[in-house]
Amino acid sequence: MTKITYPVNPGGGNLKGIRGQILTYKADPFLNNEEECYDYLPDGLIVIRDGHILDVDNYNDIIGRYPGLVDIDTYTDALVMPGFIDCHVHYVQSPMLGSFGDTLLNWLNQYTFPTESKFRDKAFADEVAKIFFRQLLEQGTTTANVFSTTFAESVDAFFEESERYDTRMITGKVLQDRNLPDSLKDESAEESVILSENLLKKWHHRGRQLYAVIPRFAPTSTPEQLSLAGDLYQRYIDDGVYMHTHLDEAESEIEWVRQLFPQQSNYTEVYKHFGLVGKRSVMAHCCLVEEAEWQILHDCGCGVAHCPSSNLFLGDGEFRYWEAKEQSRPVRFGIGTDVGGGTNFSIPRQLGEAYKVAMMKARSLDAVRSFYLATRGGAETLRLENTIGSIAPGYEADLAVIDLAPTEYASWRMKYTGDIFEKLFVLMTLGLDNMNKATYVAGRKVYDRSRDKKHMYAAEIDG
Ligand code: GUN
Ligand code: ZN
Repeated sequence: MTKITYPVNPGGGNLKGIRGQILTYKADPFLNNEEECYDYLPDGLIVIRDGHILDVDNYNDIIGRYPGLVDIDTYTDALVMPGFIDCHVHYVQSPMLGSFGDTLLNWLNQYTFPTESKFRDKAFADEVAKIFFRQLLEQGTTTANVFSTTFAESVDAFFEESERYDTRMITGKVLQDRNLPDSLKDESAEESVILSENLLKKWHHRGRQLYAVIPRFAPTSTPEQLSLAGDLYQRYIDDGVYMHTHLDEAESEIEWVRQLFPQQSNYTEVYKHFGLVGKRSVMAHCCLVEEAEWQILHDCGCGVAHCPSSNLFLGDGEFRYWEAKEQSRPVRFGIGTDVGGGTNFSIPRQLGEAYKVAMMKARSLDAVRSFYLATRGGAETLRLENTIGSIAPGYEADLAVIDLAPTEYASWRMKYTGDIFEKLFVLMTLGLDNMNKATYVAGRKVYDRSRDKKHMYAAEIDG
């Protein structure tokens, strides 16, 4: 038998290793044979260099290839996964999580708009961005598709904090020039879109940051603003710029859209009419989507963010994943917390709620599909599936380390489980806080539950 000899540390540079159980996805289990969609390694090793994954395999098969690898973090009773991806969240609503809700539109007027009006103040925006990132990283979320608000200060504060951790994040200025308080309203459609483009030029592709054109939702933009937003998106879509908005969340919202845009046959057509529907469009909620709209979302390659805890909290509607994943016209979707409509920052906890939302319609949602949605499914929704969301050579090294025994009860309960997906289903159902041991961003351990200083910026780690 010929013995293969590997070069010692091929390519040079500092190597870092992470050893533990490993789970990663390579295809969509809603559309493919389940067993071909993931790899599970009971004792694996991830080799990282310069923020990227260089190699991954069974520990015993790979360790001999890297004799220069001495810096290895080893996790027992833990599962290393790609960092979670939150496809829809409002960082600016972090100060109002758990505000009493009745209907979506009342909740927006009573709590959301007054809270967001405060983000004209950069110091306040800085404080909220800091808390928001700490929460996300604590929960193992490494990428999010985020709403800021009207003010440039809210966008700058967010991206500045993201740069400190070197996270891959998406946000942009929110465009909103009617049907909301003057304190939050854009001064004019033209000025708002110029401001958005200036922020785009400042932040898009700066380090790992990505920009989105964000009309809040059709009712809070004039047709003129939607049209200018569509022009801006179309000019930059091939450079990786996103369009992010809300769609078909609640009955009252859809009725309002019908009154405001009577010429269009449905809500999705409104966005399409203004050039806002495309391959980097991400639509939050989509609870009450008509068949004609699913077809447009499929044809145009849009992504959808399913936000179950928010939909339950605001009593909106029930997302129907089996319609989204209809084999003849599948639509990409991932998971969003939608904080502050959502009631916590944890993606695994959203999975527990997504299961219940599906069960209300007698459809279950298992752990294989759920954790796909939390990782690679989110990356596909954001069209970043070649960059993040999987553990494979060339991918950015963003990882979550899930504690498989985070509490006394969970540890005991796990004795009565079988394979890794049974364990994950228990965890997403229990929805425990503190189930994430550590979070790596671009190969650096920016969060460690057991460290005195739990969160660390990239520069602090690099020394
Ligand atoms: N629709 C328009 N704005 C919002 C918002 O801030 N939250 C939710 N859940 N829906 C919206
Ligand atoms: Zn939202």
